[in-house]
Amino acid sequence: MWHDVGAADEVAEEEPISVKVADQEIGIYRVGGKLYAMEDICPHAYALLSMGFVEGEEVECPLHGALFHIPTGKCLAEPADRDVATFPVREENGRIMVEV
Ligand code: FES
Repeated sequence: MWHDVGAADEVAEEEPISVKVADQEIGIYRVGGKLYAMEDICPHAYALLSMGFVEGEEVECPLHGALFHIPTGKCLAEPADRDVATFPVREENGRIMVEV
């Protein structure tokens, strides 16, 4: 099911936002002009990845520095030990639509 989670122009490069859809925290990122949606809770402890440091296609957890690949959710560096989910996302009439 697709959900409208906000205005597309709220998400700038390296300035993700966090949204809640169907009880799930999701980070919305813009990388190279394209939107990506990725599970927002770090699997290591509890931190919002969208509050972390974004560089290119990677985000670093603000708490202990685990690294994730935004387009795929792949965990690239410890201390997190699993990948995170990603979700289909698209822009439609200036809105962000996420499928959950
Ligand atoms: S909470 Fe993210 S690395 Fe520890």
